[in-house]
Amino acid sequence: MAHEMKKMNGLKKYQKNLIRAAEMAMKNAYNPYSKFYVGAALLTVDNKIITGANFENASYGVTICAERSAILHANAEGYRQFKAMAIITKGEKSKTETPTAPCGACRQMIFEASQISGNDIELVLSNTDKTIFLIKNISELLPYAFGPKDLGIDLKKYKRADKS
Ligand code: THU
Repeated sequence: MAHEMKKMNGLKKYQKNLIRAAEMAMKNAYNPYSKFYVGAALLTVDNKIITGANFENASYGVTICAERSAILHANAEGYRQFKAMAIITKGEKSKTETPTAPCGACRQMIFEASQISGNDIELVLSNTDKTIFLIKNISELLPYAFGPKDLGIDLKKYKRADKS
């Protein structure tokens, strides 16, 4: 996989900005159990940035990941159409050496967002130090995904065209 990783100077400006926003959000992770920090930042189709951070629970399975937190935050703000999402992570005492990819549940939810958006959302994954990046579209991380089409559902009405 290493050959697919990029360096900071190989990134586009919006990708760098998105990673910076995710890094700020990562500081707000509520993580008393795992002490693992995850920050996410979404770029809407009209270029607004909306962030998320992981939020844990004493009942561990109730925990919400940063990626899903960002999507729910965006929805609450009226945004459902996205072009890209940046994700950055950090351990309690150790840095992540390589980019961290989203968990399966988050991939499924990002796929839903991609179906609303009509965009194969780009994921910009960063290690803690912002020195190594992996850039993949959601369709690459979740091939043959189950989605609204499998249920014969058309999401046109759900785009909230008034905002994004
Ligand atoms: N976590 C995320 O926020 N995103 C992922 O895709 C993987 C895991 C969080 C959940 C939990 O708070 C911590 O990382 C350890 O699993």
